[in-house]
Amino acid sequence: MKNETALITGASSGIGYEIAKCLVKKGFNLVLTARDQSKLENAAKTLSPYGNVTIDTVVADLHDPLAPQVLYDYCHLNGLQISLLVNNAGYAIPSSFDQTPMEEEEKFIRVLALAVIALTKLFIRDMLAVGKGRIMMISSVAAFAPPSTIQTLYGPIKTFVNRFSEGINISYNKRGISSTAVCPGYTVTNFHTASGVQDEMDRVPSFMKKPASRVAYEAVSATLKGKKVIVPSKTFKLIVFLLKVVPHALFPFFSKRLAPGRYDSR
Ligand SMILES: NC(=O)c1ccc[n+]([C@@H]2O[C@H](COP(=O)([O-])OP(=O)(O)OC[C@H]3O[C@@H](n4cnc5c(N)ncnc54)[C@H](OP(=O)(O)O)[C@@H]3O)[C@@H](O)[C@H]2O)c1
Repeated sequence: MKNETALITGASSGIGYEIAKCLVKKGFNLVLTARDQSKLENAAKTLSPYGNVTIDTVVADLHDPLAPQVLYDYCHLNGLQISLLVNNAGYAIPSSFDQTPMEEEEKFIRVLALAVIALTKLFIRDMLAVGKGRIMMISSVAAFAPPSTIQTLYGPIKTFVNRFSEGINISYNKRGISSTAVCPGYTVTNFHTASGVQDEMDRVPSFMKKPASRVAYEAVSATLKGKKVIVPSKTFKLIVFLLKVVPHALFPFFSKRLAPGRYDSR
């Protein structure tokens, strides 16, 4: 058994679950967290045959400002030194910006940004104490795309995640810590149903929909190599390249077919 432990948020389904599977196969002990206890326990049960590791589950709602400290305290009290932190949990808000109560925006920012900052702050101190640690931040291709008319805050917050990850690298690479911003494109998970945009996802051409297992595989290998940014799949590497060179004003014309709904007027 490897003496390394990874904490994964949003590990009960989708990309987080597949990352957990990759890490079990590599011999990492796991701490899995999400809100739904039965989904989490089921994830732990289906993962355990993949490796001779310990798998802990902790139910926590990252809408709760105290959740990051609860997760840290659990690890501390159980003698679990986290060498890989995976900030993965996330969703998008289904209603349009003007219809969304501020309270919902604040909860969203808490899960996708404040919890990421808080968990990184708590666990990086222990990583620095041993001079070694890796952080994975699940961002999105949306971090590079022009703002869309749906999910107004999603892209800007993922852009923040990329910049935050860069900041961690600049500050701590020399002290043995690396942070990898993983930027997937459309990935087949529960995300689109949970975020109220399954209709848009259904209209995305199939060559642009990637399996979560592939995204996770590329994310884990890039993180273990200490890469700074990774865009899984050749398709989305090309799209991110185009997003960097094509003037953003032209993008809505291409997006009708490739990113249905993103630039429709509301
Ligand atoms: N799918 C895509 O096309 C895509 C593309 C780019 C980036 N991403 C990013 O990938 C990450 C994972 O999403 P996914 O596609 O794998 O979606 P998913 O299948 O819906 O998984 C989301 C995970 O986050 C957990 N979660 C949601 N809200 C939470 C909260 N308040 N507190 C704690 N855990 C919470 C969910 O479990 P519970 O509901 O039980 O808490 C679940 O385990 C997200 O950061 C997302 O932004 C997804």
